[in-house]
Amino acid sequence: MIKAKLASIGKDIYTVISELVQDTDIINFAKISPDIPCSDKLTELAIKYIKEKSVEYTHPHGLFELREEIAKEIKQRYGLNKSALNEITITAGATQAMYTAISTFVNEGDEVVLFEPAFNSYVPAIESNGGRPVFVQRTQPDYHIDWEAVLKLINTRTKLIIVNTPHNPTGAIFNEEDIAQLKKITNGTNINIISDEVFEHMVFDGQKHLSVLSDEKLAERSIVISSFGIAFNVPGWKIGYYVSSEKLMTKIRKKQHFQINAINTPFQYALADYLKEGVDYSLTNKQLEKKKQFVNGILKDSKFKIIPSKGTFYQLLDYSDISQEKDTEFARRLMDEFGVALFPLSVFYHDSIDNKILGFSFARNNEVLSKAAKQLLKV
Ligand SMILES: Cc1ncc(COP(=O)(O)O)c(C=O)c1O
Repeated sequence: MIKAKLASIGKDIYTVISELVQDTDIINFAKISPDIPCSDKLTELAIKYIKEKSVEYTHPHGLFELREEIAKEIKQRYGLNKSALNEITITAGATQAMYTAISTFVNEGDEVVLFEPAFNSYVPAIESNGGRPVFVQRTQPDYHIDWEAVLKLINTRTKLIIVNTPHNPTGAIFNEEDIAQLKKITNGTNINIISDEVFEHMVFDGQKHLSVLSDEKLAERSIVISSFGIAFNVPGWKIGYYVSSEKLMTKIRKKQHFQINAINTPFQYALADYLKEGVDYSLTNKQLEKKKQFVNGILKDSKFKIIPSKGTFYQLLDYSDISQEKDTEFARRLMDEFGVALFPLSVFYHDSIDNKILGFSFARNNEVLSKAAKQLLKV
């Protein structure tokens, strides 16, 4: 019999919830695509280039002009020189970038350290390449990383550490100490780091996103993944990029070339023009911060405990004062009795740890935020 890879994996939580709420009045408060519209300028550019450039393939590493614009942004943000020619590659979104990077470096029996709760695409990518995920639980209540625990799990089989900052779905962000510890732990090893930074422009309360690119030495062993889909509210475009050292990027590009060959041409031209004009990332950030304050302003009078979210557009709620039901069951009851769907946090743990926490996205229009939060006040 043919043995299919990943045969035992079921649907992800976002798909499960969207199927459950379809054709009902239940508010999908777990929806991952934002209600925030993308810039008119960007869509106009996309339409222009769909007309003008649709018959072209771009270079397998991505449109050079776009890579140059990314290099300029990195220089401006982190003071780091990254070569558009050798160290930046355009991808079909962050998910593909993650899969390609993992499959470039992970072989049978290799170990990959990752932190839970974890975004759902990491483990399937590790396992389909014969790797073994090594899980470290983030520490509550602020979901920081216990670097002492990480150190104990590292050995000669460890090939990768996957980090994610700002973190989906807890909203935790890296601080200087995290960068220093990651550097210390990997120093003198052959471990590479994949840093999922798709929420890099969504950090609140005057705090700053700390990329692994902010440290030159760490940057050398890292592959940093970004998503234009998330940055510009165009997740449906499925376009992003990774940045690495020339040594690592050369290996990744070989894999990517035969996985996807070239990325969508018109969107690359549109994004290159858009970046050339200079983007004010703080606008979406401010908008999201206001939404967070708005919805949490309503929820502060509820029986849920709000877990501070420092970044992303996700908010976690602790319901342990309300019920001791399993989070999956409680989430189901909220849908059936209160008409609002949140995601249970246990689905982001390999062993379904249940800490009585649910989450939602605040990248929604204020009417939805208000309606959903008011339902939660009744719980
Ligand atoms: C942490 C994280 N990584 C990666 C992705 C995937 O991004 P993309 O849509 O560009 O594949 C997402 C999407 O929500 C995400 O939350």
